Amino acid sequence: MAKQETPMPTLKLNNGGTMPAIGLGTISFNESDEKIKFATLTAIRMGYRHVDTASGYHTEVLLGEALQEAMKLNLVTREDMFVTTKLAPDEVDPRDIVPSLRNSLSKLQLEYVDLLMIHWPLQLKKGAKMPPREGDFLPFDLRATWATLEQCVEKGLTKSIGVSNFNVKILNELMSFAKIPPVVNQVELHPRWQQKRMREYCASVGIIVEAWSPLGAPGQKYGTHDLLANSTLQQIAQKHQKTTAQVCLRWIFECGCSSVPKSFNRLRMSQNFAIFDWQLDEEDHKWIDAIPQNKYFLAAFLCNKTTSPFRSVDELWDGDC
Ligand code: A2P
Repeated sequence: MAKQETPMPTLKLNNGGTMPAIGLGTISFNESDEKIKFATLTAIRMGYRHVDTASGYHTEVLLGEALQEAMKLNLVTREDMFVTTKLAPDEVDPRDIVPSLRNSLSKLQLEYVDLLMIHWPLQLKKGAKMPPREGDFLPFDLRATWATLEQCVEKGLTKSIGVSNFNVKILNELMSFAKIPPVVNQVELHPRWQQKRMREYCASVGIIVEAWSPLGAPGQKYGTHDLLANSTLQQIAQKHQKTTAQVCLRWIFECGCSSVPKSFNRLRMSQNFAIFDWQLDEEDHKWIDAIPQNKYFLAAFLCNKTTSPFRSVDELWDGDC
């Protein structure tokens, strides 16, 4: 299989490390284990060096097997890869964090991950699954949780720590006491949800904003076809003879952000990687800036008036929704 000719650029993290600008997203609800494993190995052969999972995705074991195979075939060494996982909301009690991370590491067959994230800014009872029931929420002590993530760095179980789905207010609170600041906040980000306030805030404190569902997750039950069907993006794609998906990913990259598009299809996987030998021009950026904004994933199921720390989606996203 042809490896991509343009190597993957990396983004500099605030701890001195680097992260490949595009990672393979691996959330999956309907693909077979074999397909996921094969796709991961295919991505590595193609030149992907960054894979993103979460304990809630149930793909850690498959990624672990694919990584082992890739190393056995001498395609990569452990050091070549940037592997990220996330603590689920029922794993963020300080007493649970190290055992949960060790469990993820055992599934991934790794000694350490490159980035460990808190998946959501909330805590659920042990064993509670998403979407949570009203009685599943627990008070979330971010300070204590973060101190334990910092210990994970000290223990060598992860190189970096970060967060996901944090709003600006909670991120700012975290920055006020973090001894090790988060390197990344992974959030919904694409041309239809540009996150200007979040990007400005993160740029001011040295956090990389990373895009999940950078293509709007077309074909997934939680996703939309609207983004790739956007006429402005389609016109820009036509102008550059690229796909709409490539325009989305290139725009994210030109914003200084990373992204983790999920594809288990070889052609689309290679298209999603091939965005580094061309660029958008000023006019394209003006057009994209003017696209009406629409947050697709509100996560209203995480809000209630009694037990959740967020009474409304407005609180969950600190008004950015
Ligand atoms: P597939 O795995 O069959 O390629 P997101 O990364 O925004 O969550 O989107 C994931 C969804 O988008 C998957 O259903 C994936 O399907 C599809 N997808 C991934 N890459 C592309 C692409 N380049 N063009 C169109 N659809 C894509």
